[in-house]
Amino acid sequence: MPDSGGGGCGRCCCNFIFTLGLTALFMWLSLRTSSPDCLLSKFYLPLNQTSNSSNLTPLEFELRLKNTNKDKGVYYDPINVTFYTPYRSHVIGNFTITKFYQGHKKSARKNGNISIIDRDVVSQAAPANGSTALFRVDLVTSVRYKILMFKTKRHKIRVGANVEVNGTITKVNHKDIKLKSNADKIRSYCGQMGFFFANLLVLGLLIF
Ligand SMILES: *[C@@H]1O[C@H](CO)[C@@H](O)[C@H](O)[C@H]1NC(C)=O
Ligand SMILES: *[C@@H]1O[C@H](CO)[C@@H](O)[C@H](O)[C@H]1NC(C)=O
Ligand SMILES: *[C@@H]1O[C@H](CO)[C@@H](O)[C@H](O)[C@H]1NC(C)=O
Ligand SMILES: *[C@@H]1O[C@H](CO)[C@@H](O)[C@H](O)[C@H]1NC(C)=O
Ligand SMILES: *[C@@H]1O[C@H](CO)[C@@H](O)[C@H](O)[C@H]1NC(C)=O
Ligand SMILES: *[C@@H]1O[C@H](CO)[C@@H](O)[C@H](O)[C@H]1NC(C)=O
Ligand SMILES: *[C@@H]1O[C@H](CO)[C@@H](O)[C@H](O)[C@H]1NC(C)=O
Repeated sequence: MPDSGGGGCGRCCCNFIFTLGLTALFMWLSLRTSSPDCLLSKFYLPLNQTSNSSNLTPLEFELRLKNTNKDKGVYYDPINVTFYTPYRSHVIGNFTITKFYQGHKKSARKNGNISIIDRDVVSQAAPANGSTALFRVDLVTSVRYKILMFKTKRHKIRVGANVEVNGTITKVNHKDIKLKSNADKIRSYCGQMGFFFANLLVLGLLIF
């Protein structure tokens, strides 16, 4: 066959591009990170105390932070947690959880007590007898992922949730509430598109 030499070269070139595509796919898969899950497991602010005592019970809360990555650690920067009355009309108080490191697939419980609270604001927003209201919790921090020996750049995490509370100002639902980001949808969409194009590349090379 007169064309065999050229075909061989073409196949070699094709193999090279195919390997490149596979490497790119592999790199993308192993460098891909998913942001930690943040859940509110406790939110309690007893309002039925007499306001003149000096040892008022603080706002108590507990968060659960879960590293969802199978093989990457997470370095959390200090985590700012802010509580609001419904519709974010007033800040009730804030708290900063100190920075920490979390290994892969680990889950951590972090609690905090906020003693400087504007109780008048909370009392006004407190739901009436038997009914409930939606208070708000927002969380802001940055994380870096540990991939093998390396640390990635900082990724901003900005999530929040509405918390249904009753007159005591206790979280009504016993289940943990997942804090969500508006950007989550966009990010996972981008991730899917990235995966889609990587697949398309490999598929195209296979056919070629
Ligand atoms: C506030 O309410 C809790 C539970 O409903 C109760 O245990 C506590 O004694 C109350 N405190 C006051 C000062 O009424
Ligand atoms: C509130 O404060 C007043 C004056 O300081 C004191 O007499 C009273 O016992 C206090 N009430 C309570 C429930 O601690
Ligand atoms: C937290 O609240 C304090 C006042 O209580 C305020 O000075 C500070 O700026 C707040 N921090 C954040 C991150 O909102
Ligand atoms: C908050 O208060 C609770 C109950 O008093 C305590 O168990 C917990 O350790 C406190 N958390 C912090 C961060 O101080
Ligand atoms: C709250 O509910 C209790 C019983 O459920 C009732 O006795 C009380 O009068 C109610 N208080 C108000 C202010 O509606
Ligand atoms: C958290 O709050 C502190 C103090 O207000 C601020 O310096 C820091 O930038 C905040 N962190 C984030 C991630 O917003
Ligand atoms: C508020 O909800 C908590 C948890 O569901 C419950 O223990 C508490 O009795 C409720 N308080 C009121 C005033 O309904």
